[in-house]
Amino acid sequence: MKKVLVAGATGYLGQYVVKEFKRQGFWVRALTRNLDKLEDLSHYVDEEYIGEVTQPKSLHGICKDIDIVFSSVGITKQKDNLTYMDVDYQANKNLLEEARLEGVSRFIYVSVFNAEKMKDLKPIQAKIRFTEELKDSGLNYLIVYPNGFFSDMLEYLQMAHRGRGYVFGSGQCKINPIHGEDLAEACVFAAIGDENRINVGGPDILTHSEIATMAFETVEKPLKISRVPTWLSNWFLTILKFFASVKTYGPIEFFMTVLSIDLVAPPYGKHHLRDFFLAQKDNITHRTKAACEKDQKRS
Ligand SMILES: NC(=O)c1ccc[n+]([C@@H]2O[C@H](COP(=O)([O-])OP(=O)(O)OC[C@H]3O[C@@H](n4cnc5c(N)ncnc54)[C@H](OP(=O)(O)O)[C@@H]3O)[C@@H](O)[C@H]2O)c1
Repeated sequence: MKKVLVAGATGYLGQYVVKEFKRQGFWVRALTRNLDKLEDLSHYVDEEYIGEVTQPKSLHGICKDIDIVFSSVGITKQKDNLTYMDVDYQANKNLLEEARLEGVSRFIYVSVFNAEKMKDLKPIQAKIRFTEELKDSGLNYLIVYPNGFFSDMLEYLQMAHRGRGYVFGSGQCKINPIHGEDLAEACVFAAIGDENRINVGGPDILTHSEIATMAFETVEKPLKISRVPTWLSNWFLTILKFFASVKTYGPIEFFMTVLSIDLVAPPYGKHHLRDFFLAQKDNITHRTKAACEKDQKRS
């Protein structure tokens, strides 16, 4: 039986990847820095490894007897005081070192669709630096370049629930976001194959205006979408660069950029965004309510 190490198992994509590898008959070791976060995956994980991927000493032996390493470790929402270089680059490099030491046969890494065209962005710089090292490592590798995840599209649902949505420019830029389960299936399918790179998005190609409209239809509120002109978002980013910390600026710059360009990757999968929105509708209502209550308590 082949053995896989999943790093990033506690994240949106990683949890589906753990399930999919298990479904395909793999023995699964999952890396976590917090065991509680793996609780829901206990039926799918054969062995937990507690380590902090940014601390090389805590990873000693993590790849022992492992055939495939899969990593979706990366900063998506900045919580701690680490930079993209600390996590997206260095932490993955720490894993790569361990993989090399133990002679694993394939290393799979998750980057971002069209990374090469967004080289000015901090998260992308860190990812490109890591992928270059991976390519030069001598290990057999696969780099996955996915489009935006369904989890990120929840922002639209949250805005709709609050009563006003925003799109950048004309709102006509296109994207085909993908569900974590579909992406995990594509990753594991490619992991078993011999490709070095895959570009992948979801089955529906939508404009951001269409996604925002779908969000309003889901929460059954009157459609209120404001368009943020390109000059205004550029001006906002310029000002923000001077006053905000890198921690705040990085994610905002990244999201404003990906919302302002066409991102259409080869389509894959069976999950549709409208169904995902409908399934998440109640969660959003509760989350927004909880956030409002928190704000009321503060004021
Ligand atoms: N979200 C998107 O739309 C999108 C689109 C294309 C590509 N990607 C890329 O795909 C990858 C996975 O995305 P995702 O949405 O699944 O991300 P996610 O839910 O935020 O999960 C990220 C994973 O990385 C780990 N991690 C982050 N910072 C860490 C740190 N300082 N130390 C140790 N572990 C750390 C997290 O562990 P903890 O649970 O312990 O924090 C988690 O397991 C990322 O590299 C992302 O850039 C995302």
